[in-house]
Amino acid sequence: MNEAKNITGSVGQKPRGLRAPGPKGGLILGVMPEFNRDTLAFIERAREYGDIVRMRFFYLTVHFLYNPDHIEYVLATNAKNFIKSRSLRTPFFRRLVGNGLLTSEGDEWKRQRRLAQPAFHRQRISSYGDVMVEYADRMISAWKQDEARDIHRDMMRLTLEIVVKTLFNADISGEADKVGRVLATMVKPFASQATLKWILDNRLPTPTNRSFNAAAREIDDIVYRLIAERRSSGSDTGDLLSMLLAAHDEDGSQMTDRQLRDEVMTLFLAGHETTALTLSWAWYLLAQNPQVENNFHSELDEVLGGRLPTVADIPRLKYSEKIAQESMRLYPPAYGVGREAIHEFDLDGYRIPAGAQLFMFQWATQRDARFFAEPSRFYPERWTEEFSNGLPKYAYFPFGGGPRACIGNYFAMMEVVLLLATIGQRFRFSLLSDNKLSLMPAMSLRPAEGIPVRVVQRQTQSNNHLSTID
Ligand code: HEM
Repeated sequence: MNEAKNITGSVGQKPRGLRAPGPKGGLILGVMPEFNRDTLAFIERAREYGDIVRMRFFYLTVHFLYNPDHIEYVLATNAKNFIKSRSLRTPFFRRLVGNGLLTSEGDEWKRQRRLAQPAFHRQRISSYGDVMVEYADRMISAWKQDEARDIHRDMMRLTLEIVVKTLFNADISGEADKVGRVLATMVKPFASQATLKWILDNRLPTPTNRSFNAAAREIDDIVYRLIAERRSSGSDTGDLLSMLLAAHDEDGSQMTDRQLRDEVMTLFLAGHETTALTLSWAWYLLAQNPQVENNFHSELDEVLGGRLPTVADIPRLKYSEKIAQESMRLYPPAYGVGREAIHEFDLDGYRIPAGAQLFMFQWATQRDARFFAEPSRFYPERWTEEFSNGLPKYAYFPFGGGPRACIGNYFAMMEVVLLLATIGQRFRFSLLSDNKLSLMPAMSLRPAEGIPVRVVQRQTQSNNHLSTID
């Protein structure tokens, strides 16, 4: 098999069946306390053991994979031997997204993916572009010169409204803050003592569990209401919710409210926070890199000259796209993906047992100096066609890969470029905190305390256009 040869060839020959090296950790919990104390630093340190690093989290055997060829093997080439990792099967995560696209397996996943796929076809997605621009334009029309804002909070609100409007044809502007707050409460348990949550149950009446379960009920109410309204109106608005409602199994049965709820919640969550983070980190990086920001503004002025962007402009907004790519390289919203091995297997001479948890970190591999010169520099210019073509496929994988790759990849890229262009035409941001932001690797890579900025109006023709909606 070619792939197998690649893997062995890329990192040298070893006798078969060895255990990979790795940190020992404590007697009972293994490396879990160290991992929880400073997750990103731990991921960096563990890399020193090699490309495949073995360790123990409590009773679980865990491997970290840092080599793009190995990542390709697990996510794509040999994907059949893996299911999602334990971290996605915790009671907490189950309560959050149930058995939706992100977490389901086997035939159930295949069926749901097939049903959802048409909503993400390129052509379909293009029709969402106007909504994205309209909503962004509406949001910024209220912004004032010099006002202080948390740009991360704004991006979260905006992308949530957009995903709900485009995929479920509902306007939740009135409730976006509430939904945002509830979702934030729900993802909290993933930030603290994250890995213990693999094991603990959310039914114990601790304060964290109580607020988590209360938040879950609140969000359920909103989601079930969306479903009930659509069922009772009987209208097919052509959006994802209509498609899911109309879908029949071969035996004629339809999705239950519970299944629908899980899919809707999955898309609520997967479809807004990651995109919001890409935008937030892009604004953060632009504010610190005036030369890149200048180039960005030149492109906007040249391509748009003050008017609002449309989907047709995207092919000419190349530099904006590179900004998105480079932001996701340095601050990947999904900073790691996890799998569990079904059968034992050999990787580069190391034996990996059935049941082992495998983690591959965008955070580490996308900052690896073997693949990216000056890895910590924000340098969108690096993304030439030649550079992209020469890169090992899984050295850069912000959207994962293989059969379980992100279904919203094009949706997200289009949204990020259109929102960067819409907002960047009229405003730039200066950072209000001098200190480096602290990172919170929860479910996704968040700024722990938001991104406080001062809003600065740009002097372009764009200042005199009128907002298209009230
Ligand atoms: C910049 C934005 C985004 C990033 C970085 C991102 C990243 C990812 C990654 C890494 C995965 C694979 C997880 C794994 O292999 O375990 C994934 C899966 C998924 N994403 Fe995204 N995503 C983004 C935007 C979106 C959007 C906009 C949507 C929907 C509107 C979406 C919906 C999903 C779904 C449903 C899955 C599960 C797919 C499956 O297993 O079949 N994502 N995403």
